[in-house]
Amino acid sequence: MARICLSLLANTLSENQRILSESSCSFAELRIDYLEPSEWSGIPQFAKDFSGDLILTCRKVCDGGLWPDDQDAKREELLLSALQGGFSFVDLEENFESSKLVAAAKSQNTKIIRSFHDFQTVPADLESRLRAMKQKGDLVKAAVMPQGMADVITLFEIGMNWTDRNAADESSLILLGMGDYGVPTRILAERMNSYLTFCSAKGKSAAPGHMNYQTLHELYRVDQIEKDWDIFAIIGNPVLHTRSPEIHNKGLQNIGRKGVYVPFTVDDVPLYFDLARKLSIQGFSVTVPHKEAVIEHLVKVDDGVKAVGACNTVLYRDGAWEGVNTDIIGFLRPLENLGEIKKHPQGLKGFRTAVLGAGGAARSAVYALVSKKCDVTIFNRTLEKAESLASEMGCQVGSLKALRKGNEKPFDIIVQTTSAGMEGPYEKMNPLDTYSYEGSEVVYDIIYIPEETLFMKDALQAGCSVLGGWPMLVEQGRAQFLLFTGEELPA
Ligand code: ATR
Repeated sequence: MARICLSLLANTLSENQRILSESSCSFAELRIDYLEPSEWSGIPQFAKDFSGDLILTCRKVCDGGLWPDDQDAKREELLLSALQGGFSFVDLEENFESSKLVAAAKSQNTKIIRSFHDFQTVPADLESRLRAMKQKGDLVKAAVMPQGMADVITLFEIGMNWTDRNAADESSLILLGMGDYGVPTRILAERMNSYLTFCSAKGKSAAPGHMNYQTLHELYRVDQIEKDWDIFAIIGNPVLHTRSPEIHNKGLQNIGRKGVYVPFTVDDVPLYFDLARKLSIQGFSVTVPHKEAVIEHLVKVDDGVKAVGACNTVLYRDGAWEGVNTDIIGFLRPLENLGEIKKHPQGLKGFRTAVLGAGGAARSAVYALVSKKCDVTIFNRTLEKAESLASEMGCQVGSLKALRKGNEKPFDIIVQTTSAGMEGPYEKMNPLDTYSYEGSEVVYDIIYIPEETLFMKDALQAGCSVLGGWPMLVEQGRAQFLLFTGEELPA
């Protein structure tokens, strides 16, 4: 089990005290390089008053801290006086030679963490360097910057091979990857044999990729994960914006399952599959841009994956990977559950439906609608793409320009699958801004960030029945959860 250590980064001790009491964290690192000089004299008392474990750290600018690089003597002096408070650990960088500090730490029963930071890369000699550092400290720490899946694998391999433990069978290693690629190394600190993982107070990050205590403790349960926990994942690039970890981790917790669902930013799908085997990942969700690329790694796929050519769910079954597409059912369920559709005896059959867009997301939606015998017309900025999708799925094509001007017969359902309206540069766009609604349409935007797009706002104002992408995300996740765990996602 790994601990969660809260980095205290305020410039006053009283603010740090407030942050500590808010988080209920019993393991912290006091970054005295952040403190105002007027606070220095209060450091020993701060340490005495704290009932948990405290790391004393004074990080220099060259190592990612605030302490001036040219004031080593003053730093040594400050650390020596601070140590009198009785810290559990003191962090001394790999190359910080001070016999006085080492002696003072020993006399206070303070364990020495030897550390180094690399904000650019994962050094090729990382493992041998850590082993060398171990000669000079009780624990060794490396915080490095993985540049992709290959580096993430290196980190997990070093961690999983680390066998050096103290008398209490605790690992002597603290190893973590910074940045987006490093996130799984922070959450799966236990698998990394990492003694602890760091977090920040809400809104205050000490290093790229730092998550806050609530996220690590409540959502990912990092300080409860044991060797026998199941690991599930989501892969994508980018992936950290997705809300799937909320759905799955809360679900796992609510059914009392020892399991965690971890986001992996993936730049190389084959390498990810190697890591997934090493970590015994039981199943994972797949998001943009990897829904097609995973397919060649699967021994079996369901009809949805075959028809759409995209797979959002991968399961490890009988020693091999299998693929399922739950985007289709995820798209259909919210629609079929609407009162307007439910009251129709034949469900979606025969509804005149316009689909905006002809990309990957449109493929699932069109396939789902056609499978329910909807009367589907595709509208897309690039007509040829609409034509190609329509001929493949057996439906019609319309002119987006004509639809926008209101020169098309009214539709019962309008589905929006383009990127227009999505958080970021497209957020202010509405692909049907000039459309005049009857008010009786069902309008469905599969975007879920923001929760309400301009397209949805317009349709709501016109009195339409409006669906956003969040219910779809929940429903595709619900179907995945059942496949991952064999149990229903609790309400
Ligand atoms: P996804 O997998 O999310 O569907 P995609 O395959 O890249 O992503 O498809 C994006 C869709 O959004 C396409 O239909 C695209 O239209 P084009 O085929 O003409 O590129 C559509 N799209 C993207 N930006 C758009 C915009 N600003 N206005 C209208 N349609 C847009």
